[in-house]
Amino acid sequence: MAETSSTPSDNNKLAGKVAIITGGASGIGEATARLFAQHGALIVVIADIQDELGHQVATSIGQQKCSYMHCDVTDEEQVKSLVEWTVKNFGRLDIMFSNAGILGSSDQTILNLDLSGFDRLFAINARGMATCVKHAARVMVEHRLRGSIVCTASVAASNGGRRRTDYHMSKHAVLGLVRSASMQLGVHGIRVNCVSPYGLVTPMTLHAHRKGVEELENMYETNMSLKGAALTAKHVADAVLFLACNDSEMVTGHDLLVDGGYRIQ
Ligand SMILES: NC(=O)c1ccc[n+]([C@@H]2O[C@H](COP(=O)([O-])OP(=O)(O)OC[C@H]3O[C@@H](n4cnc5c(N)ncnc54)[C@H](O)[C@@H]3O)[C@@H](O)[C@H]2O)c1
Repeated sequence: MAETSSTPSDNNKLAGKVAIITGGASGIGEATARLFAQHGALIVVIADIQDELGHQVATSIGQQKCSYMHCDVTDEEQVKSLVEWTVKNFGRLDIMFSNAGILGSSDQTILNLDLSGFDRLFAINARGMATCVKHAARVMVEHRLRGSIVCTASVAASNGGRRRTDYHMSKHAVLGLVRSASMQLGVHGIRVNCVSPYGLVTPMTLHAHRKGVEELENMYETNMSLKGAALTAKHVADAVLFLACNDSEMVTGHDLLVDGGYRIQ
């Protein structure tokens, strides 16, 4: 008979682990911070530029389990300080969830590519992602930790787009980062993977599409094979948890789609 009952360890997958989540004040990052804390993480450090919201999220999770730190991922010094502060205060860094990202305000095709918007978006989505992986990996190597680094890519990492050229390009860059870093860091026992969600309702997509929650969910559902349920930040967080914890001990360089079958169609 199939085993269906849950064991205590099913709910304690991150016992004693120290994690950083960038973009943790909202959306996917926030849902992941909550899930990591539920799974026994020693501490989850939320790093974001939305200070008030970040503090609120950390407080609601509980100050014993969650801290907020301001960190703009476009600034390498801030990322370095974030990582060093975490190791100094909590003794280690086991998990980096590099998740901060933006969609950009311009709905451009290549014909009207707004290059200053492009630079801003790349500074966060591609350069910022690389900066977080770099500094997390450096302390993991220094402290001989077999850590797990997870980045948020997107289905846009392997598809072209009819618009939002900069966003698609930046997410392709994340895939290149994950694949290269996983090859380079394997020798240290450090795993590097990414999650690639299809569209889901978060403040980022609500703002970009200027639609209501239900309307946006319906729009996304139309393009997924799986019907009858909307993709949520919790679904993505579940995939991040899998990549962060020992259940994926031999998984590295992997792009885990969380897309309700969008890409298969
Ligand atoms: N929502 C979707 O449909 C979807 C789909 C695929 C991938 N993604 C990716 O998921 C990630 C999270 O997005 P979300 O949908 O949860 O959006 P969100 O806007 O709810 O969360 C993103 C967070 O990143 C933070 N952030 C932005 N710029 C930052 C910077 N310079 N430094 C630090 N933090 C910064 C924001 O303040 C925000 O809290 C992004 O990388 C996004 O590209 C989202």
